[in-house]
Amino acid sequence: MVLDPPYGVEEYELDQIEKMLSGGPGIWRIPPSFDGCTRSPLPRFTALDEKQRAALKRFFRDFAVAALPALKPGAHVLMAGNAFLSQLVFSAMVEGGFEFRTEVIRLVQTLRGGDKPKLGEKEFPEVASLPRGGYEPWGLFRKPLPLKMTVRECLALYGTGGLRHKPDGNPFNDVIQSERTPKREKEIADHPSLKPQSLMRQLVRAILPTGRGILADPFAGAGSTLAAAEAIGYSCVGVERHKDYFEMAKASIPKLRALRTGEGLSSAPQPSLSL
Ligand SMILES: C[S@@+](CC[C@H](N)C(=O)[O-])C[C@H]1O[C@@H](n2cnc3c(N)ncnc32)[C@H](O)[C@@H]1O
Repeated sequence: MVLDPPYGVEEYELDQIEKMLSGGPGIWRIPPSFDGCTRSPLPRFTALDEKQRAALKRFFRDFAVAALPALKPGAHVLMAGNAFLSQLVFSAMVEGGFEFRTEVIRLVQTLRGGDKPKLGEKEFPEVASLPRGGYEPWGLFRKPLPLKMTVRECLALYGTGGLRHKPDGNPFNDVIQSERTPKREKEIADHPSLKPQSLMRQLVRAILPTGRGILADPFAGAGSTLAAAEAIGYSCVGVERHKDYFEMAKASIPKLRALRTGEGLSSAPQPSLSL
């Protein structure tokens, strides 16, 4: 499973999406502009209160409990996080029954953090309340292997348990130098959280160690994960709750998968896709 969930849960509720689109006050806000360019809205996770944080933990614990029976023993889950909330979300996954394996760090310049203290901008001109974000943490989890089963046995029986090497024959790394989503991809799919194909193809490839199996993305958005899976030649299945994004994914996936990025492309046969 490779997923980019609504980390704060709130931000993809229908009323918040409507506020984002209309520019009304809500969890989405326009980050400050340092260079005169107009920014796209980002969810403001620092504004979550205790009740919302508890709801978030519950959501991901329930998600983990629901996801486990659908996965083979030893199956990996790679989940996009946010530096501010990852400790909450990742611990909820462990409470729900997953083994925490590591974090994969996507090095990317984000627009988060670096803000001056509100109403203290002039008084404390050299202070930021949070560091400017230069990475995105992805949690790597595994469904526990049956008692006494080795990784070799798990790979042979279920095709799970490990991570696939990179196309150059080296092991998958836990730090990935990445880019922001390129304009040509955003022009294909106008989703506020679209991930770049250059990143997704590296992540997706690693998750099926023998290349066999079905990759699932339960928060598919505009389908960047599913497009990456198709580009590699993996079978995949996705779920998206909002109809507009679901329709966007149907139109975008064939176009995103056809892009050349130099990452993980193969001449594998056409995979099956159900959305
Ligand atoms: C962070 S975005 C994923 C973006 C995706 N990686 C892409 O590149 O387009 C999360 C998505 O999950 C969807 N979502 C939120 N809650 C959901 C739920 N309960 N079930 C399925 N999808 C949900 C949202 O509508 C949103 O499109």
